[in-house]
Amino acid sequence: MSHETLLTLARDTAHEAADLIRELRPEGRVDVAATKTSPTDAVTDVDTAAERLIRERIGAARPDDGFVGEEGGRQSGTSGVDWVVDPIDGTVNFVYGVPAYAVSIGVEVGGVVRAGVVVDVPLRTEYTALRGEGAWRRDPGGGPAVAMQAPVASDLTHALVATGFGYDPEQRARQAKALAEMLSRVRDIRRIGSAALDLCSLAAGRVDAYVEEGLQPWDRAAGVLIAREAGVVVTGRHADEPDESLVVAAGPALFEQFRALVVESGF
Ligand code: IPD
Repeated sequence: MSHETLLTLARDTAHEAADLIRELRPEGRVDVAATKTSPTDAVTDVDTAAERLIRERIGAARPDDGFVGEEGGRQSGTSGVDWVVDPIDGTVNFVYGVPAYAVSIGVEVGGVVRAGVVVDVPLRTEYTALRGEGAWRRDPGGGPAVAMQAPVASDLTHALVATGFGYDPEQRARQAKALAEMLSRVRDIRRIGSAALDLCSLAAGRVDAYVEEGLQPWDRAAGVLIAREAGVVVTGRHADEPDESLVVAAGPALFEQFRALVVESGF
């Protein structure tokens, strides 16, 4: 199966899940069904229902593939294709009705993410990428896909920086200190509440840089590919590959200055 065909399956499934999430969301606040890594790390019945739908659709179309989802854990496959899924990235926003949450699906072939889709559920905007071929944004209403390009900004003092916090209180305290260091040296900070949308916003040029510690594979698989395919430089702390320890990202003209600031700030 071509990577393009895998992307089509990922897109169709992500839109179906986004429709379900919109349909199931009641007015007002959503009940938290359970918590995970800390008392503030919420799961709702809608996260679980959306992941179940995605597992069923991918499993029916490609029964030999592996699957790792934020809510339902890992299931190994035999085909060499693995689906890395966050059914709702931005669950806290979803709970409160803040309109910034997304379905995120990355498709790994031989351990490398080759295709990815992020669907912004409230706005219905779709972000996609195919490794080596580019990244695109499609707004709702059936218009054409628009190729995305990394921001060209090179002045760190005017950079708008997106970030996020993990759910572990000690890690948060450290992140807050590092951000306090950074804040006086950039234009401003944004904490939108969805890592997948942060990375897509960078690809779309709505922020200039992004840094976050503690992201899980499902938070970053699709978003990192989309950002990179738009020309954004994305690395980890010590290596080229971002990982749970750190994701640092910025347009090529800003990247080295931004990475130096991340280190100086104490991330
Ligand atoms: C969270 C969001 C948030 C980020 C957290 C993630 P979830 O994902 O992406 O922006 O700061 O680190 O855990 O829990 O809403 O799927």
